[in-house]
Amino acid sequence: MANITGKEMLEMIISRQSERSYYDREIEKDKLERILEAGRMSPSACNSQPWKFIVVNEPVLKNKIAVAASARELGFNIFVDQAPVLLVVVREKGKVISRVGGTLKDKDYSLIDIGIAVENICLQSVAEGLGTCIIGWFNERKVKELLGVPESKRAELIITLGYPSNPYRPKRRKNAEEVISYNGY
Ligand SMILES: Cc1cc2nc3c(=O)[nH]c(=O)nc-3n(C[C@H](O)[C@H](O)[C@H](O)COP(=O)(O)O)c2cc1C
Repeated sequence: MANITGKEMLEMIISRQSERSYYDREIEKDKLERILEAGRMSPSACNSQPWKFIVVNEPVLKNKIAVAASARELGFNIFVDQAPVLLVVVREKGKVISRVGGTLKDKDYSLIDIGIAVENICLQSVAEGLGTCIIGWFNERKVKELLGVPESKRAELIITLGYPSNPYRPKRRKNAEEVISYNGY
């Protein structure tokens, strides 16, 4: 059982923010391994674990991925190359039971599973003093090609990882009354 209070946990969740600026500083191996472990230990429908986390830390390859994830002319994701590590999350097929259940219930459990694993990675990164940004906008075909991801699989998200260099921003969120209700919609 973790030695962390409820208040501390919430503080940590709130202190996570999308970091879009990083120091030129390497990530310690033990930190990176714990961050990956946080992803690997995530829950998933039928314990299907429909993910593969590709660590990209080789500078030349990493910069090619960063180019595929940014559009200079639009100002999209131009910070990605600053992060010393990129984690590319590939969606795997998952167990048959999860896929059948998903079809019957008209729900893609594997995408939900990936979202959970990605947030676990982001929270563990906060605990390690690191910052992340989840990147959903990128040239998937190019990223798959660079990493040798099979044609049949989807590269769903990229997570930038590094020591953040920007200050904390207050959270902008919908009011609690708008998104939480008790005992009915
Ligand atoms: C699925 C997903 C995709 C995202 N894609 C991008 C992206 O391509 N580029 C980016 O700068 N931020 C991206 N974000 C970050 C969101 O913009 C950010 O989480 C949101 O504005 C809330 O801000 P915060 O993370 O700082 O609390 C993405 C977040 C999620 C969950």
